[in-house]
Amino acid sequence: MRKKIIAGNWKMNTDINSGLELAKTINESLKNLVFNSKEYGVVIAPPFTHLYAVSKVIDNKFIQLSAQNIADNEKGAFTGEVSVDMIKSAGATATILGHSERRTYYGENSSTLSKKLNLAIKNNILPIFCIGEILAEREKEIHFNVVEKQVSEVLFNLTVEDFSKVVIAYEPVWAIGTGKVATPEQAQEMHEFIRNLIEKKYSKNIAQYTTILYGGSCSPSNAEGLFSKPDIDGGLIGGASLKAEDFLKLIEIRLKH
Ligand code: PGA
Repeated sequence: MRKKIIAGNWKMNTDINSGLELAKTINESLKNLVFNSKEYGVVIAPPFTHLYAVSKVIDNKFIQLSAQNIADNEKGAFTGEVSVDMIKSAGATATILGHSERRTYYGENSSTLSKKLNLAIKNNILPIFCIGEILAEREKEIHFNVVEKQVSEVLFNLTVEDFSKVVIAYEPVWAIGTGKVATPEQAQEMHEFIRNLIEKKYSKNIAQYTTILYGGSCSPSNAEGLFSKPDIDGGLIGGASLKAEDFLKLIEIRLKH
C-alpha cells in the first residue's frame, strides 16, 4: 500500500539555531510515537543552509530530510545554485520540486522541472512534486485541465519505474499561506482525478501505489476532514510545520487514519 506522509516545508524561515531546535523537538517527540515507517513517513524540508546541521540531530529512522529545491544542472558555473549532489552530501534524501512559489517567483516551468526531476531520480533523491491551480483558474473552472497539463508535461515523461519513485503534492495556489483551505471534498475530487490520470497513463497498481499529498493552509484544525478522505495520503505543510506542537499534532492525526 502507498505510504502516508506528513512533510514540513519550512520555506525561508528559521535561522540555523532555531531550525535545529525545531528539528530536535520533532525528533524527540517522534520517539514516543509508535509507527511503522513503511506505512507512515515524516519529512522535514529546512532551508539549504540548515541541511547538514539538521542531518546530525535527527534520526533517519523517524524523519526523512528534504531540500526545498535543486538546480537543473549537475554542476558548473551557476552562481547561487545548489546541486542535487550537494544536498545529498549534506544528508538530504528528498527534495520538493515545482512548488508554486518557485513557479511564480522564479519562473520554473515544465522544461526546467523535467530536468530537476530527472536529476533527483537519477541520484536516488525522492522528489515531492508540487502541482496546483491558481484562483483565477479555479474560478474559470479549468483547474482540472491545469493540473492535467502540469502532470502530463513533466511526470508522465517518466518511465513507469521512475514514476513509482515520485510523491505528488496537490497544492491549490489560492490555499497556500492564505488560511483558506480547500474543503475535503474539493481536495478529494482533485486527488481522485490525479489518481485516475495515473491509472490511465500507467496502471491501476501504480495509481494505487502513488502517494498524493494535499498542501495549502493545512493545520490541526482542518486535517481530520482532509486525511480521512480515501485519496488524500497526507500533507505538505507550510506555516503549521514551523511550530513543533502543530506539526506533531498533524502527524498524530495522520496516524489515526
Ligand atoms: P501553507 O503552505 O501550509 O503555509 O499554506 C503549504 C506549502 O506551500 O507547501
